[in-house]
Amino acid sequence: MNDRLYIFDTTLRDGEQSPGASMTKDEKLRIARQLEKLGVDVIEAGFAAASPGDADAIRAIAETITNSTVCSLARANERDIRAAGEAIRPAKRGRIHTFIATSPIHMEKKLRMTPDQVVEAAVMAVKLALEYTDDVEFSAEDAVRSDIDFLVRVFDAVIEAGAKTINVPDTVGYSIPALWGERMKELIARVKNADKVVWSTHCHNDLGMAVANSLAAVMNGARQVECTINGLGERAGNASLEEIVMAVRTRRDVFNCDSRIDATQIVPASKLVSTITGYPVQPNKAIVGANAFAHESGIHQDGVLKHRETYEIMRAEDVGWHANRLSLGKLSGRAAFKSKLGELGIVLDTEEALNAAFARFKDLADKKREIFDEDLQALVSDEGYAAEHERFKLVSMKVCSETGEVPHASLVFTDDGSEKRADGNGSGPVDAAFKALESVVGSGADLLLYSVNNITSGTDSQGEVTVRLAKDGRVVNGQGADTDIVVASAKAYLHALNKLDSKLERAHPQV
Ligand code: KIV
Ligand code: ZN
Repeated sequence: MNDRLYIFDTTLRDGEQSPGASMTKDEKLRIARQLEKLGVDVIEAGFAAASPGDADAIRAIAETITNSTVCSLARANERDIRAAGEAIRPAKRGRIHTFIATSPIHMEKKLRMTPDQVVEAAVMAVKLALEYTDDVEFSAEDAVRSDIDFLVRVFDAVIEAGAKTINVPDTVGYSIPALWGERMKELIARVKNADKVVWSTHCHNDLGMAVANSLAAVMNGARQVECTINGLGERAGNASLEEIVMAVRTRRDVFNCDSRIDATQIVPASKLVSTITGYPVQPNKAIVGANAFAHESGIHQDGVLKHRETYEIMRAEDVGWHANRLSLGKLSGRAAFKSKLGELGIVLDTEEALNAAFARFKDLADKKREIFDEDLQALVSDEGYAAEHERFKLVSMKVCSETGEVPHASLVFTDDGSEKRADGNGSGPVDAAFKALESVVGSGADLLLYSVNNITSGTDSQGEVTVRLAKDGRVVNGQGADTDIVVASAKAYLHALNKLDSKLERAHPQV
């Protein structure tokens, strides 16, 4: 059996379906560049038919990326396939990933189609996709709850039509490893020409088993895993890329295969995705959590000092920890700044954007002695947040917080260019700042989440704040970074308001 495991990353598509995680074209491009550096085989860049913005982002990624295949999702209908085909056209290697649901519940209640109609649509979709690329993947949505005889029938038909990758998704995160491995094995045994295609798995984490189920599929013949950085994705998320890659690499004796991932790029990729989406990584998350390689107990510390392998099965530096290099300082010039951004895969399109980012860097260098790669990522993101859709922008603010007194915030911000003032009291300085802004803007949005993370360590570190707001069924995440977390909070609140204000409408692939 082939010993190459293909990594299909869907952070930019399934990952983006996490509430509030929608990304701008520039943000998607930055992540795509990092995924290419990481060495993923396929980047699912989006769902072209969802919106003109999605199609545009896929096209931009297809124009930029050369070492990974660029893929668009498409439902099994003509409009979606044509939109996907057009979006991936500039790619050096482009893939169309088409899908249709095959479980009785989805066919009857959602699609209102008979099984015969589903087979017909699947075959039509694959044949049409082949007009755009010879790299066509087919997924049987909700394969976990589909009748296995029907799955065999659908897969026989789409392979006959020309599909090169067959994906078996656990769309609802319902399976358990033994059953999922068994299902993969039976499909490969029963489907005609199974040896002519790559078998793939795509698992969701509703019962916390997405990674375990994916690995069970690999042990039973799957050679592509669909996954996301940090396990981002619909509901409880998708299988996490870093866990799959490191499990297979660390236990090669069990899996007999490996990916071409450059694992030292894992932690930088994790930090980038977390910064851009505003989804923090839990400290005890495997591989990329802040504590993943920290030894707290004396016995463990003693063991590691004497012989590292006593308590460590992987080396932190092999997955990109300590890549947190000192980047630049107060005296660094514009050329060094530009070249460092290049190294981090950050391209600022205009001189104006570069100048603005450099001015912010100087400002930060005045407040913070050492500037790390992560600071630069945050700084450029912060620049991006402001540039995207800038109805509201913070000009200045003042907060008074004193024991025994009611905290008060006064802010100056611009609303479509005209200056406004806001004043408010609150239970703390952040609450006062949000109440002040809301008293003038009157968005009526509900605050779903407020979180602060330090970008690097130390009390002079920049704080990165995420604010999640919901209004009329839309959920958005706003981010802001600053060495002063109250300022970062106000920026994050205004960023979220800007996102709510932009009327971006996207269709959901599964609807
Ligand atoms: O979860 C799922 O079934 C999907 C498909 C579109 C592959 O995301
Ligand atoms: Zn999915």
